[in-house]
Amino acid sequence: MTYNNKITSSDKKQIVSLLEQILASEVVSSMKIRNFHWNVESHNFSEMHSFFEELYTETAENIDEIAERIRMLWHKTVSTYGEYLELSFLSEEARRDLQVAEMVQSLTQDKEITIAFFRTAIDKVSETNDVWTEDFLIALMQKHEKNLWILSSMKD
Ligand SMILES: [Fe+2]
Repeated sequence: MTYNNKITSSDKKQIVSLLEQILASEVVSSMKIRNFHWNVESHNFSEMHSFFEELYTETAENIDEIAERIRMLWHKTVSTYGEYLELSFLSEEARRDLQVAEMVQSLTQDKEITIAFFRTAIDKVSETNDVWTEDFLIALMQKHEKNLWILSSMKD
């Protein structure tokens, strides 16, 4: 039994495809942030270690909400690392020895890429009936923009 949310199945397919790319990118980003949380070495270690923890905690909440929105559109949620790596618009970070400034720079770039993707995605979703997803993506983008401001303010 599925409830009728008045969104056509072709619109749902398109929206789910956008949500899957966002979900995959959040997962890839989450692992990168954990890498930084674990491997950072800096005079302000404690501050950066905690900052990265806050970021991946927020990312974990985002991941769950995005996946559940996909379910509310009655699609099954992608759930393997192989699929995430294929769908993600962000890249993994294999290096473990980045300087803290490089970590901040890397996450700043990821936020810029993410926000650009969100702008396009929100435009596309706004052409459908799915106000729920549109509103959700706007709220998520606001979180990303706030983090972009924080990261951009981390200057020596
Ligand atoms: Fe930890």
